[in-house]
Amino acid sequence: MTDPTALEATLLQDISAAADEAALEAIRVAATGKKGSISELLASLGKLPPEQRKEKGPLYNGLRDRVTTALGARRETLKQAALDARLQREALDVTLPVRESGIETGRIHPISQVIDELTAIFADMGFSVADGPDIETDDLNFTKLNFPVGHPAREMHDTFFFAPDANGERKLLRTHTSPVQVRTMLSQEPPIRVIIPGRTYRHDSDQTHTPMFHQVEGLVIDKSSHLGHLKWILAEFCKAFFEVPSVKMRFRPSFFPFTEPSMEVDIQCTRKGGEIRFGEGDDWLEILGCGMVHPNVIRNCGLDPDVYQGFAWGMGIDRIAMLKYGMSDLRPFFEADVRWLNHYGFRPLDIPSLVGGLSS
Ligand code: DAH
Repeated sequence: MTDPTALEATLLQDISAAADEAALEAIRVAATGKKGSISELLASLGKLPPEQRKEKGPLYNGLRDRVTTALGARRETLKQAALDARLQREALDVTLPVRESGIETGRIHPISQVIDELTAIFADMGFSVADGPDIETDDLNFTKLNFPVGHPAREMHDTFFFAPDANGERKLLRTHTSPVQVRTMLSQEPPIRVIIPGRTYRHDSDQTHTPMFHQVEGLVIDKSSHLGHLKWILAEFCKAFFEVPSVKMRFRPSFFPFTEPSMEVDIQCTRKGGEIRFGEGDDWLEILGCGMVHPNVIRNCGLDPDVYQGFAWGMGIDRIAMLKYGMSDLRPFFEADVRWLNHYGFRPLDIPSLVGGLSS
């Protein structure tokens, strides 16, 4: 026969030791549940002779009442403790400063910024953006652009070639964005007015050269565009890009196989105290190559050079980014150093536009 005094002592001890509501519920079921120890004691009353029942009845009922009370009290304590813990865990200090999101802390790379600036300026003049693959054929990178096989101009490009494929064809990493001129003429009907920003590759590395760099190409093909238009476009571009009211430009004769005549363009600047300023001064800085598209190139792209004509130009994006934003070394552009990017980068929501400002 269970000793009610010992049972009560054990139950009360278990109850006060119960760590959570689930443990407490298990004790309750084991004590006052259908087959619980106290329920069994109470059930046994029915089999006792009346005398003993009178004596044990109040004893067992008293036991049940005290255990039930202790269970209730412990449940309340545990509930309160769980609530306190949750309040602690979910406490929110609304006075703390809001943590900045990626859109505020992230930075746009100066190259991406300059590409966006270029695009905004040329889009305003009615240009669209074209692109092509970084891995090119020799035909598109050179031959169709009027670099005959064996021509010395090919050697000047320090080309990265791939191993010949099964057909003996040697693909290469494009050395300039000019092959996209050819791709555009082969795939679009004139009038054509595109800019082509993109990655280019040459075997070259020092403070102002990296093996991968960026160029932007411009191409206009129709029946009447001439050098006067080209000069106006480039002057407007330089003023807008360098954010100055006027620029003086100098066109020097040059040579590129894919243009005739060909020119290199310098802009006037001052260099004082290591700082460069445009729109003033008596120094000159070369910024791009350009010319009228060579009739051979127009013909190679399936157009009749007696009907169509136009001009093209090519410019180093990294170089104009360095000039505009005052960086003297090109290599950190591609080192992915977040400290450099935090210093030279641009805020993602300050999207360059001619109306909102290019770099402000
Ligand atoms: N492709 C030339 C280079 O990488 C740059 C260039 C010069 C592009 C004159 C042109 C151009 O479209 O007309 O050196």
